[in-house]
Amino acid sequence: MFKAIDVLTPGFIDQPLSAIWSLISPLYSVDESTWLQELLPLATPTEQERQNTTTAATQLIQQVRKDDDAIHMIDALLLEYSLDTHEGILLMCLAEALMRIPDADTADALIRDKLSVADWKKHLSNSDSLFVNASTWGLLVTGKVVTMDENEDGTPSNVINRLVNRVSEPVIRKAMNQAMKIMGHQFVLGRNMKEALKRGHGFRDKGYTYSFDMLGEAALTQQDANKYFDDYMKAITAVGNDGYQGSNSPSPTISIKLSALHPRYEVGQSERVMGEMREQLLGLIRHARSLNVGITIDAEEADRLELSLHLFKSLYEHPDTRGWGQFGLVVQAYSKRALPVLAWLAALAKQQGDCIPLRLVKGAYWDTEIKNCQQRGLSGYPVYTRKEATDTSYLACARFLLSESVRGNIFPQFASHNAHTVAAITQIAQHSDFEFQRLHGMGDALYNTVIKQNDVNVRIYAPVGSHKDLLPYLVRRLLENGANSSFVHRLVDARCPIEDLVHHPADVLAARSPLANPHIPLPADLYGDERRNSQGFNIEIEHEWSTFSDRIKPFMQTQWKAGPLINGQLITENVDIKSVLAPYDHSETVGSIGWANADLVNDALNTAAQAYPAWRDTPVNERATALEKLADLLEENYGEFMALCHREAGKTIQDSIDEVREAVDFCRYYAVQARKNMSAPVSFTRHDQRTIQMTRKGRGVFVCISPWNFPLAIFLGQVTAALAAGNTVIAKPAEQTGLIAFRAIELM
Ligand code: FAD
Ligand code: 2OP
Repeated sequence: MFKAIDVLTPGFIDQPLSAIWSLISPLYSVDESTWLQELLPLATPTEQERQNTTTAATQLIQQVRKDDDAIHMIDALLLEYSLDTHEGILLMCLAEALMRIPDADTADALIRDKLSVADWKKHLSNSDSLFVNASTWGLLVTGKVVTMDENEDGTPSNVINRLVNRVSEPVIRKAMNQAMKIMGHQFVLGRNMKEALKRGHGFRDKGYTYSFDMLGEAALTQQDANKYFDDYMKAITAVGNDGYQGSNSPSPTISIKLSALHPRYEVGQSERVMGEMREQLLGLIRHARSLNVGITIDAEEADRLELSLHLFKSLYEHPDTRGWGQFGLVVQAYSKRALPVLAWLAALAKQQGDCIPLRLVKGAYWDTEIKNCQQRGLSGYPVYTRKEATDTSYLACARFLLSESVRGNIFPQFASHNAHTVAAITQIAQHSDFEFQRLHGMGDALYNTVIKQNDVNVRIYAPVGSHKDLLPYLVRRLLENGANSSFVHRLVDARCPIEDLVHHPADVLAARSPLANPHIPLPADLYGDERRNSQGFNIEIEHEWSTFSDRIKPFMQTQWKAGPLINGQLITENVDIKSVLAPYDHSETVGSIGWANADLVNDALNTAAQAYPAWRDTPVNERATALEKLADLLEENYGEFMALCHREAGKTIQDSIDEVREAVDFCRYYAVQARKNMSAPVSFTRHDQRTIQMTRKGRGVFVCISPWNFPLAIFLGQVTAALAAGNTVIAKPAEQTGLIAFRAIELM
């Protein structure tokens, strides 16, 4: 494995770019504990650094806690309705869902469903905040403040009950939208650039500068992408032409989310990304350079990292960008790949003799990354699973970014609202040149102190745009502020002692065993002891793709032969042989199938009927174990099945992966269900009130007819459910996808 500490060795970034690039992808789902062991030495402070950091962080926190304005209404709300409470999660779901639901009826049904199941009363007097105690629900429900004791029927719980039970859903809906607007105002600087530039003057007078981000991401249509592109063009013009002279701080820049600019910003569409999308970005770069407005490319989902780096390199090396020094990007420290990515970028800049402004963040998509990998059954996570691991990685990356070897090639920009992180960076940096960054609506009090105490620039990342584009950004901020592990959340919680906020993350992590978080199971272990999750593959990642494609390639030319199978015997006589053609290209033959006739169907029925009693009486555990064995065999042979799904059914590679996984899940799921339900006696009461006890058992011969669009999953899903319950089966696949079905039955 790549030695993390080697990045500090002089000459490390003088290696060929391809050599450094090859270190990145294998870390995608590397064993977390092993890799963290590597990373720890790079983040571990000297004794002097540790002491100075603790002192500085303590002072910063004391200062912030003294500042009455530091705690916004929304902080108090999120503290009370924290995401580790049932009610907090309900509010979050409701807020998120209401912004997406287009019609009033569905929105009202959702409100009815959500609000009735939580225990709102218990939150009433927990918080010191008037906003939370008296106004929260009043505000949410009526859009104006309601004071509890002014209500004729007195007690707070009555107020809540009245609000929840009697106020109609349309009123709540309007009020929730109103609350979203209030939240929006907290996190968004302006609805348009004019408003944002004006509202920003106050902070620029205090010495801050800005990076403006146009709300809007994950464009799904070209129309959306065009709109966001225009927004960015106009924003660059507005910033470039802004005559504001109020401060000596660096000029504002623009932050861009690549997912806003193209509806198919994905690895499978690399050609379009490197063609159409690159052209659009060059347009933005040329315009920005002509007005000297710096551009930063935001970091988004982990699967897009490698693609975004290819794109960045191609743009960075373009003659229109060379020598500018104002084209930068963001790297997420929660990514296991962060360190070699930074080394690669430093090498890229050095090779070109330029500088890259580089914003280091911890990463805002953590929950999504974790859930995504679990759902896809991947071999591991691309992100760390303990917060202190991310914090450690952040400081390891910072040490590299502030080291002598990258000076002049990277301009580090440290984005964090964590006072300990800020204090630690200040210690590591000593006299290096760098800037801090914060988000609009967060970290005000912290940075007001930092800016007074240190000669350092602070840039505010400020979203600009309309309410309708706010949702994903707002959800990330609410998750960040509502999570009980988040620094800002603990900072505003007076019950959290300062000592607990200033431990060095490398020390906390080093004391953990194991270093990875045992409470976040690997995707394969998601269902605990009950069953193994089916194995998935991430074909967006170069390293994973190359292993995966090696397993499929041998089957891309195979010619399969199939025919009726009765009791395990392939019937070759009296069958009508037909060629199987690939649906996407009829000149490609995939194999041939001998079709059964009516006599063979009768033979099959008779055989299945004869076999039934013995199978029914086979112990359920044996039947279940056979299904689990089939699941394992499908996984062992995934290359062949995925090639078949692709070539015979015309599925994309991703759909082929999902197809085989679903079949594997069915086998394991029915095995579990059969063991649970087929052995224990069940009792029921007959119409004459007599109670009967019986054990569930098979019913006879099942005929399973399956569709072509799920040629393996639905095919096996029906067959295995029937078999697990003790029935015998005649399986009739769709005539379009007989080869896949035949191979599955052969394995069986
Ligand atoms: P902390 O509370 O110290 O850290 C919170 C972070 O720790 C979480 O966000 C997560 O990354 C990590 N974490 C939490 N729990 C766990 C866990 N169990 N295991 C592992 N890690 C965990 N984010 C982007 O993704 N892309 C961007 O382009 C981007 N741009 C930004 C620009 C600016 C100016 C700023 C200030 C932030 C930006 N962010 C971006 C958001 C940033 O990632 C979050 O604000 C940041 O993660 C919060 O870190 P913190 O140091 O303020 O808080
Ligand atoms: C986000 O959009 C700030 O880029 C970061 O969450």
